[in-house]
Amino acid sequence: MTFIHLITKNRSYRRYFQECTISQADLHLMIEAARLSASGRNWQPLKYILCNIPELNRRVFETLAWAGYLPDWDGPKEGERPSAYIIQLLDTGIAATAGWDSGISAQSILLQAVEFGFGGCMIGSFHCLGQT
Ligand SMILES: Cc1cc2nc3c(=O)[nH]c(=O)nc-3n(C[C@H](O)[C@H](O)[C@H](O)COP(=O)(O)O)c2cc1C
Repeated sequence: MTFIHLITKNRSYRRYFQECTISQADLHLMIEAARLSASGRNWQPLKYILCNIPELNRRVFETLAWAGYLPDWDGPKEGERPSAYIIQLLDTGIAATAGWDSGISAQSILLQAVEFGFGGCMIGSFHCLGQT
């Protein structure tokens, strides 16, 4: 696949084959793509939680906001929800802000996912469990 083809294929997918398992090994390789990407001052302050367990996926899904331009759509229905998540965290013991690292990392993760034949969506709009 050419690079421009990879970029073109990397859309924000919002309906998934929920029954399709994404292995921990594949998720690790996506994180590897992020780990090898540029980091301001090379501080590498981002950490990741990998989640591909249906019960945990359910809890993650509850926190997400999908497609703000479509207020009447609550996001993918059961059966079409993501089968895995990569949650990006900032280690504030290393840096107070992520700067550009978070976007660079997220793009690397998604490009690796697409190269594997998967698709995903960056979600910047979420709430913590227990919050409204
Ligand atoms: C930083 C960032 C945060 C985003 N947050 C959300 C989000 O919370 N929910 C959502 O459904 N899409 C989110 N998106 C996806 C954008 O809506 C999407 O990239 C945009 O509509 C363009 O569509 P495309 O990626 O298919 O080209 C986010 C994208 C970026 C880059």
